[in-house]
Amino acid sequence: MPLLEVDNLSVRYGSIKAITDVSFHVEQGEIVAIVGPNGVGKSTALNALSGIIESNGGLITSGEVRFEGHNITGFKTHELVQQGISLVPEGRRIFPRMTVIENLEMGAFTIKDKSIVNNEIQRMLDLFPLLKDRTLQQAGTLSTGEQQMLALGRSLIIQPKLLLADEPSLGLSPNFVDMIFEKLVEINSEGTSILLVEQNARMALEACHRGYVFEMGKISFDGKKDSLVNDERVQKSYLGK
Ligand SMILES: Nc1ncnc2c1ncn2[C@@H]1O[C@H](COP(=O)(O)OP(=O)(O)OP(=O)(O)O)[C@@H](O)[C@H]1O
Ligand SMILES: [Mg+2]
Repeated sequence: MPLLEVDNLSVRYGSIKAITDVSFHVEQGEIVAIVGPNGVGKSTALNALSGIIESNGGLITSGEVRFEGHNITGFKTHELVQQGISLVPEGRRIFPRMTVIENLEMGAFTIKDKSIVNNEIQRMLDLFPLLKDRTLQQAGTLSTGEQQMLALGRSLIIQPKLLLADEPSLGLSPNFVDMIFEKLVEINSEGTSILLVEQNARMALEACHRGYVFEMGKISFDGKKDSLVNDERVQKSYLGK
């Protein structure tokens, strides 16, 4: 049984159909990439399974999302966190007025035991050493790359089984892009499965085990890393070859 299964998902915003009959899955232990150009429904697909689609004005009109075999369609964010699913939203959405530590504490809101929270915060600071000297800094004053590290740390603090990440490399300098992808691979090797939405197809397909290419609200093709990277259409459209 796959960890995450999405069957025939359709989402509309008002009268606009954003995605139609989209099906994909994530196996335990995988990094799965969703790539494709602007506006084809990548974030919509991710948000539809992460419980924030309604607050964005979207409506799931068909489909089912299952996690470990249970139907989780339409679950709210906190219910997903309880299942072990965590989202790093597009644009990071850190709390700019709060300190680095306070942001990490927000990610741990479901953990009641303060000593566990402190241990987990320490674990995140070890994973992202750049944040160590900045624990009391207001998050809004961090550089974009540091904010992305914080957003990742905030999502990982509950030790999710599945991490959903929307464009984690967007707007970052090449060094930070490399760092983010290295971290994702490291996190994955420690047991967290990852569903990664990226416009940076080159990096995402390099890091993934399998991928899906979205076009105009549908999946145009999918496959294992090697078959995608060697596919002529993918090379031409997304890898600039
Ligand atoms: N809140 C919204 N209200 C109305 N239409 C929306 C909303 N969010 C997205 N859309 C529309 O749905 C379609 C898919 O958008 P989505 O954000 O999922 O694309 P995307 O593939 O993530 O794009 P990008 O790569 O630019 O992030 C687009 O046509 C977009 O204009
Ligand atoms: Mg998007």
